[in-house]
Amino acid sequence: MLVNAKEMLLKARKERYAVGHFNINNLEWTKAVLLTAEENKSPVILGVSEGAGKYMGGYKTIVGMVNGMIEELNITVPVALHLDHGSYEGAKKCIDAGFSSVMFDGSHYDIDENIEKTKEIIAYAKAKNISVEAEVGSIGGEEDGVVGAGEIADPKECQQIAELGVNILAAGIGNIHGKYPDNWKGLDFTALAAIQGSTGGMPLVLHGGTGIPEEMIKEAISLGVAKINVNTECQWAFADATRKYIEDGKDKEGKGFDPRKLLSPGFEAIKATVKAKMELFGSVNKA
Ligand code: 13P
Repeated sequence: MLVNAKEMLLKARKERYAVGHFNINNLEWTKAVLLTAEENKSPVILGVSEGAGKYMGGYKTIVGMVNGMIEELNITVPVALHLDHGSYEGAKKCIDAGFSSVMFDGSHYDIDENIEKTKEIIAYAKAKNISVEAEVGSIGGEEDGVVGAGEIADPKECQQIAELGVNILAAGIGNIHGKYPDNWKGLDFTALAAIQGSTGGMPLVLHGGTGIPEEMIKEAISLGVAKINVNTECQWAFADATRKYIEDGKDKEGKGFDPRKLLSPGFEAIKATVKAKMELFGSVNKA
């Protein structure tokens, strides 16, 4: 059964580890993440962007697939199905479709409009016991066509949004989606500490988990980060493993063209990536 992300993240916050949010793209991705979570007795969050939602045939399709897998693969660890960077309409759709958690990303609105819209989503979600993540200060880089400039969030604005009753808060601290540029200045821990102070123990989210050095991940967790989003790194792992299979000519050997064989190295590569992240985030055996 799906659970909302609230309890699992409060527990992570308290015990100083982070739960991985892994974006899913298809059946192989979903199965790889769920099986790895179960094998490592780790809670997990499946992230779905609006673009990925469309690609996979709509939110209800995803809810059916994830619920089916949880039952038939005997997944017993806590699993949240979470909309990633949702629009106002998208968040409502996911709540109606059976997601257990949604992010409403109003960071591109001015703060007053962000507050108004976040409030409405909270009211809509609360009635169904669904957790809500909000965002202040846009995350840099591009994700599904949403381009953020990589702002540092204002701790006061974070406090205003936190006080609305959100369960999880994403705040920009110099993190960006995708590959970090060579001249990246790193995470702004002064800002993170200030945001932690102004939001009273709220679990914080670190987006753009790909390519952040291990020591920075650990420091971020020590300053209240309880959810870390990873997307690109799984995509790289999948693409590299799939390319190797093809370049080695494996698809031309016997029935190597069978998608169940062709996609298998990529599937295993996602599993290995997710396992390594769970170990780094400290969520192994926390289910
Ligand atoms: P990366 O693609 O950089 O891992 O970021 C993922 C993310 O933040 C999803 O919201």
